[in-house]
Amino acid sequence: MKILVLNGPNLNLLGQREPGIYGRTGLEEILESLRRRYADRLELQTFQSNHEGALIDRLQQAHREGVEGVVLNAGAYTHTSIALHDAIRSVAPMPVVEVHLSNVHAREPFRHTSMIAAACRGVIGGFGADSYRLAIEALLAAHD
Ligand code: DQA
Repeated sequence: MKILVLNGPNLNLLGQREPGIYGRTGLEEILESLRRRYADRLELQTFQSNHEGALIDRLQQAHREGVEGVVLNAGAYTHTSIALHDAIRSVAPMPVVEVHLSNVHAREPFRHTSMIAAACRGVIGGFGADSYRLAIEALLAAHD
């Protein structure tokens, strides 16, 4: 199974960025541990961008290339991007799982709204780096 782990703005700074909220583990370390864990079961692709259009381009590319599931941490675009919502709908039925390291519902009110959740298969948040693993498990369970 081919899965894309797609990360949006500022997630390249994981480990240094607000460690009290997001932890001290860097993005590459999180991705490497996923690659190791799923080495024999998954073809794991990864991409991070701080640019909304680049995330949309990558999602469309994944769809064209037959990716079977996407784990998407859209960062702050989660709360603002109708363009990402439309992109997720445009690649249906390729399932996209919205993930967050933090529990966005326990934070500022502007983080309580997701523009993308309704277009996603499901939402996982609040489990730190483990949110990514849980999202992959959900995609695997839905695929089997
Ligand atoms: C985040 C939560 C968002 O509200 C925030 O803008 C991020 C990270 C998370 O993983 O907890 O950049 O998506």
